[in-house]
Amino acid sequence: TSAFINTLLTKHSNSSHPISKALIHTPNDMSFTPTLQSHIRNLRFNNSTTRKPLLIVVPTHVSHIQTAVISAQTHNLQMKIRSGGHDYEGLSYTSSTETRFFLLDMQKLCSIDLDLATETAWVQSGATLGELYYKIAQNSKVHGFPAGVCPSVGVGGHFSGAGYGNMMRKYGLTVDHIVDAQLVNVEGRVLDRMSMGEDLFWAIRGGGGASFGVVLAYKINLVRIPETVTVFKVERTQEQNAVNDVVFRWQEVAPKLDEDLFIRMILDVVKSSQTGEKTLRVSFVALYLGDSDRLISIMRKSFPEMGLRKSDCIETNWVQSSFFFFNIPMGTPEEYLLRRKPEKLVHLKRKSDYLKKPISKDGLNEIFKKMVELEYPALFFNPYGGRMAEIPTNATPFPHRLNLAKIQYKLNWDEPGTEASSYYIGLMRKLYDHMTPYVSNNPRESYLNYRDLDLGINDHDWKTNNYRTAHDLGITHFKENFWRLVEIKRKVDPGNFFRNEQSIPVIPLEK
Ligand code: FDA
Repeated sequence: TSAFINTLLTKHSNSSHPISKALIHTPNDMSFTPTLQSHIRNLRFNNSTTRKPLLIVVPTHVSHIQTAVISAQTHNLQMKIRSGGHDYEGLSYTSSTETRFFLLDMQKLCSIDLDLATETAWVQSGATLGELYYKIAQNSKVHGFPAGVCPSVGVGGHFSGAGYGNMMRKYGLTVDHIVDAQLVNVEGRVLDRMSMGEDLFWAIRGGGGASFGVVLAYKINLVRIPETVTVFKVERTQEQNAVNDVVFRWQEVAPKLDEDLFIRMILDVVKSSQTGEKTLRVSFVALYLGDSDRLISIMRKSFPEMGLRKSDCIETNWVQSSFFFFNIPMGTPEEYLLRRKPEKLVHLKRKSDYLKKPISKDGLNEIFKKMVELEYPALFFNPYGGRMAEIPTNATPFPHRLNLAKIQYKLNWDEPGTEASSYYIGLMRKLYDHMTPYVSNNPRESYLNYRDLDLGINDHDWKTNNYRTAHDLGITHFKENFWRLVEIKRKVDPGNFFRNEQSIPVIPLEK
């Protein structure tokens, strides 16, 4: 470690932006644990047995990143890159293999340069979505950006892994609006779109940044939004009897609706208010990019089974609509977007699946039964269609655009310890197994940004691991786009410096 620190400090001695000791945090420093914990978003990876970095470097200038990249190769150290720290498996700050690693923490490189004249912004990867939304909202009432609704999610991981939000049926994914980028490559050079070339620029819009370099910033096109949007939440429970019909119908209707309308469907299990028994609940949470009168007329025509009433609808602005989706009370000041620390941290596990065709009513009944038995895991269905289906599946590495919906498996828990983790993760795996006949197969697709180590861990050592794990992971995340990513990886980082447990492999040519 001390040799590495020396290299970090001396490599820079002539620079006008030297790395100071204050930017390097070792386990002996009081600042180490607070810095490490500042962006841990899953308590599963905040305990004494979690593998920790040898040290943390918090760059405040691009030259610090360049030095870190070069020095780490000199000392044969793995680098983990963290922006917002929301990786569901903590891959940005811990390791599930025994490799020695250090953490490059991008949290201070978080400037946002907005240009309303061109409707664009340069956003550094250490910024959060909330900071981006705040900047937009402070300057315009008619612009927004189609990314996730959780304000503390980081730009670095979210954008490089594709990124979606509740405007995706109208505008597609986050990566569909990236027009330029700055990246530090394996040689420590700073590249932009022109100098990195279209292949690498394609790869870092959905292929995961951590495989290819350190993304310093993305340039994005903003999108136009109406000043008034409408949100609603409608709930039904199994005891009201209509659940099966309305869930079945959602699958047919939601991906075909007007593209201004996004209706998320959530299935979870609650205690019946009448009997105290466990019962299935369905919730529909929606954003409509327009006013409630038009929304009601669309719903009456296309989805009368839901029975949406005018009194269910809330007209608001775009920022407040994101609060609504994220369960933050509406009317909360916009400054809330700047909070980096979530109000509550939990232990969590997520998995993903894709829906290719509607699940039959019998199938739904089986799923409901299983969910009631397992009680804790919830399923979030996000409808595709609209703009998503218009963009070719090879336009970016994200290949899942033609599905009816993405399913997120969600489970949060408070109890610490491995026993609780095994119990809750076990429940989720049971539900995932149960869903097998109803979702995509061959490959069973999954979303890179819903990081799930159950899909495989690659230690990139062809002696202990094998090409099959890397291949299968790549196909489930990227389908046929995997091979282009492999080619790009081979060209830009043949020594596989930029890697993690699920990164794009450098496949030996003889395999
Ligand atoms: P983090 O810093 O953990 O990085 C994630 C991955 O990207 C790691 O592999 C990391 O090394 C790499 N990386 C980060 N910065 C990099 C950089 N500058 N250069 C190169 N590589 C870099 N997703 C979604 O699409 N829509 C949603 O609505 C949500 N909502 C959501 C809510 C909550 C509470 C969580 C915890 C997560 C989500 N997600 C999501 C998933 C989220 O998009 C995903 O975890 C992102 O990768 C998080 O990006 P961060 O920068 O925060 O993560």
